[in-house]
Amino acid sequence: MALTVPRGDLTQYPREFEREVTLKDGARVRIRPVLPEDEPRLVTLYGRLSRDTKYQRFFTVRKRLPPDWAHYFANVDYRRRMALVAERDLDWRPELIGVARYEPSDGKDTAEVAIVVQDYWQSRGLGTILLNEILRAGEANGIRRFRAYALADNHRMLALLSHQTHIMERRTAGGITTLLFSRRSASSVEKAYG
Ligand SMILES: CC(C)(COP(=O)(O)OP(=O)(O)OC[C@H]1O[C@@H](n2cnc3c(N)ncnc32)[C@H](O)[C@@H]1OP(=O)(O)O)[C@@H](O)C(=O)NCCC(=O)NCCS
Repeated sequence: MALTVPRGDLTQYPREFEREVTLKDGARVRIRPVLPEDEPRLVTLYGRLSRDTKYQRFFTVRKRLPPDWAHYFANVDYRRRMALVAERDLDWRPELIGVARYEPSDGKDTAEVAIVVQDYWQSRGLGTILLNEILRAGEANGIRRFRAYALADNHRMLALLSHQTHIMERRTAGGITTLLFSRRSASSVEKAYG
């Protein structure tokens, strides 16, 4: 699989976050920073998500990802705002199957992390990889603390965070669990995928 080459003047595009990974079942997936031309692909990915997955990610369910959201999600500065996509080639065209992002949160060194994996691709280790990669990208950009909001009954996301990160604070109110965490050391993370 050839890595996607960014077009245009994307001088900030961080190629060091392009990588190919192997999931638990042997499937090969490409991870790379999001590109502006991913905007329609993000809309398509949203359309393929189940109601539950949409709700767990956005705490609301819409039929279609609003165009201004898609535009915002596809256009990042790769520093303060960053997103990584997971993609596969389908009929020679890239198809997005997951996204991890961080956005500025309280304080200069803290960012809010959110992840989604298309239902068909869940439980194969992709969420673990995306989480670790987005935290690695955050750390490379001087972000030391991360925040995540998950539905209090979203056991998968809560398990993912407690297994993969160092949780510093955890609060539940109104059915939403808020976690403050930091990245674990690189050596313990490497065990998650080679
Ligand atoms: C949460 C999410 C990103 C995890 O991605 P994933 O690819 O399914 O996760 P993984 O396969 O890497 O598994 C992560 C952990 O979840 C747990 N898990 C996996 N499959 C599970 C299942 N079917 N039921 C319960 N827990 C499960 C495991 O603890 C696993 O870690 P471990 O195998 O190291 O113990 C994904 O399920 C998703 O997109 N959910 C909907 C959106 C969402 O909840 N986003 C979070 C809020 S921003």
